Amino acid sequence: MLLQLLALAGITTAQFFDTTGGFRPFGPGYSRGAYPQDFNVVGPALEAVHDSQSAPTGLAVDSALNLYLTYPRNSGQTPNNVVICTDFNNEKPWPSAEIQNCTAGQDPATCFLNVQNVVLDSIGQLWIIDSGIPYYTASTSGAQAIYGGAKIMSFNQTTSELIRTYTIPQDLLVHGTNANDVRINNTLGTNGYAFITDESTNSSIIAINLDDGSTVRRLFNTSVVRADEKYVGSYDGNLIYGWNGTKKSFLSTGADGIALASGNFYWGVLASRRFYYVSQSVMVNTSLSDADVLAAVQFPGQCASEQAGFTADDQGRVYILASEQNAIYYVDTAYPVNETVNGISGNSTGLIPADNYVVNTLVRNGMIQHADSAAILDGWLYFCTNQLELGPSRQYNNVDNRKGPFRSFRVWIGRGPAV
Ligand SMILES: *[C@@H]1O[C@H](CO)[C@@H](O)[C@H](O)[C@H]1NC(C)=O
Ligand SMILES: *[C@@H]1O[C@H](CO)[C@@H](O)[C@H](O)[C@H]1NC(C)=O
Ligand SMILES: *[C@@H]1O[C@H](CO)[C@@H](O)[C@H](O)[C@H]1NC(C)=O
Ligand SMILES: *[C@@H]1O[C@H](CO)[C@@H](O)[C@H](O)[C@H]1NC(C)=O
Ligand SMILES: *[C@@H]1O[C@H](CO)[C@@H](O)[C@H](O)[C@H]1NC(C)=O
Ligand SMILES: *[C@@H]1O[C@H](CO)[C@@H](O)[C@H](O)[C@H]1NC(C)=O
Ligand SMILES: *[C@@H]1O[C@H](CO)[C@@H](O)[C@H](O)[C@H]1NC(C)=O
Ligand SMILES: *[C@@H]1O[C@H](CO)[C@@H](O)[C@H](O)[C@H]1NC(C)=O
Ligand SMILES: *[C@@H]1O[C@H](CO)[C@@H](O)[C@H](O)[C@H]1NC(C)=O
Repeated sequence: MLLQLLALAGITTAQFFDTTGGFRPFGPGYSRGAYPQDFNVVGPALEAVHDSQSAPTGLAVDSALNLYLTYPRNSGQTPNNVVICTDFNNEKPWPSAEIQNCTAGQDPATCFLNVQNVVLDSIGQLWIIDSGIPYYTASTSGAQAIYGGAKIMSFNQTTSELIRTYTIPQDLLVHGTNANDVRINNTLGTNGYAFITDESTNSSIIAINLDDGSTVRRLFNTSVVRADEKYVGSYDGNLIYGWNGTKKSFLSTGADGIALASGNFYWGVLASRRFYYVSQSVMVNTSLSDADVLAAVQFPGQCASEQAGFTADDQGRVYILASEQNAIYYVDTAYPVNETVNGISGNSTGLIPADNYVVNTLVRNGMIQHADSAAILDGWLYFCTNQLELGPSRQYNNVDNRKGPFRSFRVWIGRGPAV
């Protein structure tokens, strides 16, 4: 308005404009907003641990510090579905070459169709989660899991021997079930439980009793597992839609990342900025109705990012891989903590109420290009990156704008794993 008045009065306004191309020096005391590239880098340096030639989604580290990655078949065949890294650049199929591809007529419960993640439990077993959706249908709408193919399998981390397979029952594979991630609590119940996220549009959470294999599906198609309506995320400063050629859609990925901490089950809804938790014992208690379980769900508030992966440490801290912010967040779920919040001292004991959760940034760095899965061992948090949002299904005309290699990193946190 002032400039318009000056212009009307015929007074030159040139003196108000910078003629140095935006680089006029700021006065003393100004340190933010001085340069176009003024983005904060937060947290300690990242250490590169492995380069992958194709995009990994899952990551585990065993107690001998071997690194495992998964290359899922959501957008076509991959030579190996699960690998162990033999050095910074090289990998070999794990646990064997034969298991990587189901062959015609083979029982799909005995081989890999589409493994999404690999996870170490607290008793030296490595678990894989297979969506059971074959590569040749995975990218079509209405893709269905094959019964037997949708499963979790445990292996001995030392010998790579198969220990046990739990298939997801056929009646739980309706409505497009797409098993995406798994975490194990070895001490819950008689022989432990597995918790699985189903990231389909309808979405749900599945719990398997590892003692008898009985399985329960919870929160099916509820708001706490479904994507935001017409969700649009942001990545490296660009807005992200779903694309089929020039046909635009909205991403609808449901419950995705998981962490177990403080006796609770934490999960994020990928195409949203929401995360939730519920007591693990409530989740697995088959005397409780679906309405009871839904009523027990806690919502600590939005977290300013879609989030693919979660993990937790042995002091009740949950880590959230915040792809929209090139960051990894953390949130404490149990006392003690360093801050007093809403009048409750950080020196309290027990669990922090949902309303008092404060999410912080552990690390923010341009090298974090869609961190997808994370694992904690010996004080380090390991994670893989895969530039998911730059892949063909999220780019106009299905151009693949990902540029490998896809790097995995570790960052020091000084803590051990939760489970
Ligand atoms: C799995 O099958 C694909 C396609 O036939 C092949 O390229 C790949 O080598 C196979 N993987 C292994 C480990 O045999
Ligand atoms: C993309 O559109 C084509 C043509 O309509 C269709 O056949 C195909 O299934 C669509 N792909 C996906 C992933 O929806
Ligand atoms: C894995 O195998 C080793 C060597 O046979 C054995 O000592 C260990 O108990 C096994 N661990 C599990 C979890 O089965
Ligand atoms: C959700 O479930 C309904 C009912 O089974 C099914 O018709 C629909 O295809 C599912 N939605 C998706 C996106 O798979
Ligand atoms: C899932 O929820 C959506 C949104 O509330 C609803 O439109 C749809 O009919 C539901 N699908 C099933 C299979 O219950
Ligand atoms: C695993 O379950 C046990 C028994 O309910 C519980 O005490 C423990 O906190 C759970 N572990 C985690 C990491 O939540
Ligand atoms: C399961 O829920 C019922 C009903 O609230 C309760 O009475 C029972 O103690 C719960 N069981 C466990 C093992 O927590
Ligand atoms: C509290 O602060 C101390 C000193 O800065 C730090 O070592 C510790 O990790 C912090 N604890 C929590 C729970 O944030
Ligand atoms: C916790 O107690 C210590 C020792 O009394 C005190 O220095 C610290 O300020 C307290 N922290 C909080 C968050 O109240």
